[in-house]
Amino acid sequence: MTTAAIILAAGRGQRAGAGVPKQWRLLAGRRMADWTLERFRTCRRLKHMVLVLAPEDEAAWAEFESQPDVILASGGATRAQSVQNGLAALARTGVTRVLIHDVARPCFSPALINAVLDALDEHKAAAPALPVTDALWHGSAGQVTGTQDRAGLFAAQTPQGFHLDAIVAAHATYEGEALDDVEVARAAGVAVAIVPGEADNMKITTAADFARAERILGNDMDIRL
Ligand code: CTP
Ligand code: MG
Repeated sequence: MTTAAIILAAGRGQRAGAGVPKQWRLLAGRRMADWTLERFRTCRRLKHMVLVLAPEDEAAWAEFESQPDVILASGGATRAQSVQNGLAALARTGVTRVLIHDVARPCFSPALINAVLDALDEHKAAAPALPVTDALWHGSAGQVTGTQDRAGLFAAQTPQGFHLDAIVAAHATYEGEALDDVEVARAAGVAVAIVPGEADNMKITTAADFARAERILGNDMDIRL
């Protein structure tokens, strides 16, 4: 089997603010996108890497076009459309399994890639997640309006792994604004196995998340500059 990773980097990072899309901002001395790409580059089980870029990120296109180990694809208006363009870039590569990952999660370990890929030997789809441990509330206008039983609830992470034929077929009929590819796979009836996620594998979403990610990456002897 041949495996690829699709790294989604076409978002605008509206919630992180700062004018520049978050993937091009520095984290512990290195751009977020570079940390994330490095994680996949160190994995020998991956044959191809697709980087999905927004058409308007012209400097990034110019930079990555010259990197022979990266296939570039154009981002769409939604995350799902960006994934669809990334999947299209894998046509005729002979790839049979794919990991789909948000560039905004640079803090996962190589062991997580291996765990997701191993699960694909048994399942058509597998994704990391952690059981929710906080109490959950409903709220409105600054008031708690209700509580929510957390039993059986998981916080989803990426990289999410799929047999290529299954996720291509699922996306072919999908129209919506899915937050991730597990949502797309399930909409098409594909069963998804849960792999234990990692506490450090946070998604950088708001300005405050940068400091926490810097602490995690700053302690990471594995891939420090
Ligand atoms: N993404 C993408 N194409 C889009 C929208 C999102 O490739 N049209 C990617 C983002 O780059 C990110 C992931 O999908 O890696 C979604 O994570 P999110 O935190 O929502 O990133 P942004 O959409 O960039 O941030 P925001 O929603 O705050 O604007
Ligand atoms: Mg978004």
